[in-house]
Amino acid sequence: MSAVTQPQRLLSDDAYARIDRELAKYPAEHRQSAVMAALAIAQDETGWVSKEIIEEVAAYLGMPPIAVHEVATFYNMYNTRPAGKYSIAVCTCLPCALRDGTKAAEHLKEKLGIGFGETTADGLFTLKESECLGSCGDAPVLLVNNKRMCSFMDNQKLDALLAELRDAK
Ligand code: FES
Repeated sequence: MSAVTQPQRLLSDDAYARIDRELAKYPAEHRQSAVMAALAIAQDETGWVSKEIIEEVAAYLGMPPIAVHEVATFYNMYNTRPAGKYSIAVCTCLPCALRDGTKAAEHLKEKLGIGFGETTADGLFTLKESECLGSCGDAPVLLVNNKRMCSFMDNQKLDALLAELRDAK
């Protein structure tokens, strides 16, 4: 008699416990409603959502992998490629661009030596161009790791942020 081998899970028990808490918010027949939260939890743990992670989340939610892939690639907040420890998403939409959003992005590009969609060689920072973050009046604005909103980011504040994140490593 041969033992049945369980497939290796990529996400931890803790990640699954968090996903289960999200699933509890929806009727049992609507597990797919938790897809965005599940992807965010997976990304928190692994830094990005690989094809294998997408397949694992899809299997857990009972969704076709392509449907999860579509969500992961539609929203800017998911990294579908390996990313730095800190993702910095700068809003360059028109209202922000008119209030130095573009200037802030240029400053970060210069300081980090990378362009949008790129990661520094030390693996610390990934720079992203963001759509409206809903905080146009606070421009220039940026979001660190999809969680920390930073407002009125002049060059001095940008430098201080980079120094703080570098020190935190
Ligand atoms: S346009 Fe930048 S936050 Fe709205």
